[in-house]
Amino acid sequence: MPEKIIIDTDPGIDDAMAIFFAMSSPELELLGLTTTFGNVSVERATENALHLVEIAGISIPVAIGEAVPFVQAPLPFPDFVHGADGFGNLNLPQPKGQPIELGAAEFIIKTVLQNPHEITLIAIGPLGNLARALELEPRIAKLVKRVVIMGGTVLESGNVSPVAEANIYSDPHAADAVFRADWTVHMVGLDVTHKVTLMNDLQRRIRDHNSIFGQFLFDAGRFYADFYQSSRGTEGCYMHDASAIAYAINPNLFDVVNGPVRVATEGFAKGQTILKRTDYSYPENHWDIVTDACVCMGVDESGVLALYEKAMVGS
Ligand code: BDR
Ligand code: CA
Repeated sequence: MPEKIIIDTDPGIDDAMAIFFAMSSPELELLGLTTTFGNVSVERATENALHLVEIAGISIPVAIGEAVPFVQAPLPFPDFVHGADGFGNLNLPQPKGQPIELGAAEFIIKTVLQNPHEITLIAIGPLGNLARALELEPRIAKLVKRVVIMGGTVLESGNVSPVAEANIYSDPHAADAVFRADWTVHMVGLDVTHKVTLMNDLQRRIRDHNSIFGQFLFDAGRFYADFYQSSRGTEGCYMHDASAIAYAINPNLFDVVNGPVRVATEGFAKGQTILKRTDYSYPENHWDIVTDACVCMGVDESGVLALYEKAMVGS
């Protein structure tokens, strides 16, 4: 039986890669997309999610979610990473579909309550929708199967500050609420996603072999690859969001450390995901009543890329 998943997303070029990866993987059954601000506004994220569903030629619900962070003031959108439209400035025409009437948090709650212990939530954007769903219906914490997030970092340098990763930094209060909830968060952060590089060559193979979304991913991916080339001097791009999908399919490709995580919500460490890695009892006890997260610290890069290629190219 494929695992039932909901992807919570801010598409986003690497979100598009992740969503098509999930749609192409027989191990997963994608029940819907919930959208959030992040790489773009929530309105644009919703249009983009509808585009992806349309390109894939499938029919699944898209539910619109949080427009702004829980507490902090909204931040500028990173148009230098994903383009002003979130898809590398391809400026696609309006999608034909519409979001469902139910909001993102309500869709998550309804789906989890209807399928107890069967739904895996995969969040690849800021965590406001998950935090909102927990706030509205705390019982979901015990009724989901798994929560997998792309976000955070423990030892690897951050990508918006020396210690913070973009999804967590975009809404640190929501992220802390998600880590503090009574469920196990599986964190796929920069400690592993900076070790998985999607080379341009594989992106070309996907373009040449996947007639459904290969060309779209290649065209949007140029902007993303250019960002990495100019900012980091690397060829290709990091496989952030798609690594969370790989984890959902095969967690054995990752080395995991267990421990409670808290998120710094203000000051110059804002957005830092702080993992307590020892059994020590500290006078600072903020981690003491927090459920252990499973934090990915190592990854089999070629295993993740092989899984991605198999799904996207089909060999
Ligand atoms: C995360 O931030 C966004 O730019 C990407 O879509 C990914 O979810 C990486 O830090
Ligand atoms: Ca994302």
